[in-house]
Amino acid sequence: TAALIKKAKETLVANDLGGYTVPTHGLYPFQWNWDSAITALGWKHFNEPRAWQEIEVLLDGQWDNGMVPHILFHQDSTTYFPGPDVWGSDKRVKSTSISQPPVVASVVKDMLETADDKTFARGKAESLFSSLVDYHLWWYKERDPLNTGLVVSYHPWESGMDNSPAWDEALAAVPCVDWEYERRDLGHVDSSQRPHKSEYDRFLFLVDFFKKHKFDSEVIFNECPYKVNDIGIIAILHKGSKDILALGETLGIQDERLDYIAERIALTQSAISTLWCPEAQYFYCRNVLTDTLCKVRTSAGMLTLFAGLANTEQKEILNTKAQQWNAASQYCIASTHPEESRYEPQRYWRGPIWLHINWMIALGFENEGFQQTADKLQSDCRALVDLSGYYEYFNPETGAGCGGKDFSWTAAIALHWLL
Ligand code: DGY
Repeated sequence: TAALIKKAKETLVANDLGGYTVPTHGLYPFQWNWDSAITALGWKHFNEPRAWQEIEVLLDGQWDNGMVPHILFHQDSTTYFPGPDVWGSDKRVKSTSISQPPVVASVVKDMLETADDKTFARGKAESLFSSLVDYHLWWYKERDPLNTGLVVSYHPWESGMDNSPAWDEALAAVPCVDWEYERRDLGHVDSSQRPHKSEYDRFLFLVDFFKKHKFDSEVIFNECPYKVNDIGIIAILHKGSKDILALGETLGIQDERLDYIAERIALTQSAISTLWCPEAQYFYCRNVLTDTLCKVRTSAGMLTLFAGLANTEQKEILNTKAQQWNAASQYCIASTHPEESRYEPQRYWRGPIWLHINWMIALGFENEGFQQTADKLQSDCRALVDLSGYYEYFNPETGAGCGGKDFSWTAAIALHWLL
């Protein structure tokens, strides 16, 4: 254990570019939104000021409309595509024009509660609080202007689960981009572990579409050829919103925007049942443009427990399902259920195991009183790290590490949860 702790700390230090941490050098040479938030959880175990700085630098890239971008391009790099020129945003901090699962508020709450230096942490949380509120308001106002209770995502990259089979049908309706490009990811990781060209062609069409419409939220909401209710984003946003309210109380902050967040929490709670499939007994995503559920079991559905969105009956069902899911792979919860026809054990989000997702799922089970399930996920994740170290993701059948190595969020989750 001591050697693993040392290695995890060394991984974060080696990936530190001064105030922010790259997920891994080469493959992802910038600051990613949810990677950074999760990585702060690792930093806090040996350098609290550095953990707060990670969040400060992330929120420094926030747009005026409240969005916290999915990537902040703090400096140039030739090892990643598509870079800032392709995205075309003209903000002070160069960035993409979409967001990512908003786990940052939950991380800030955790960092305040567990801080050794409470006075320092309180000061930091107070100064970041308003930006967190702005970020959540952005999600609700821009991504659910019709008050359905379920925000929409405009891009698979926004989900953080880029090539999940949940997006297949929705993405197939997006045109292909009409210019040639060179992928850089395949210079770092074997193509068998990355998305296909047919997906990249559409990922890039959407990037162009946002730029062409000058990031105009109304036009994009009305015309975006890809609109999905992503259960992962919805759950993480919901949990974050509850954590913002709790933080507001702890900090004694009076802010009428918090009443609005409370209304949104109630709205999502009542709308979530529309994503529950009675036949499959599981939460799915929905293709908003065709109003059809994306009928494939992905680990994102389990995040409803983390959010406290599942009712009593659903909780029991999810617990049984998690145990079966866990048994269907050698280690914890695979990103796509191994019995799905589109499951692929080493292709990015079509099967591999991601530790930060398993941590959130386990926390959900723990909070809901299913301690045994939570413990089993934790011991399986520990076994993966013992076997393969800090890879980006893991093959659920062999435990082999896949994707980028010396990966920040894997090392961070190890420090925070496993060691
Ligand atoms: C990538 O480039 O693979 C990233 O996942 C995009 O966020």
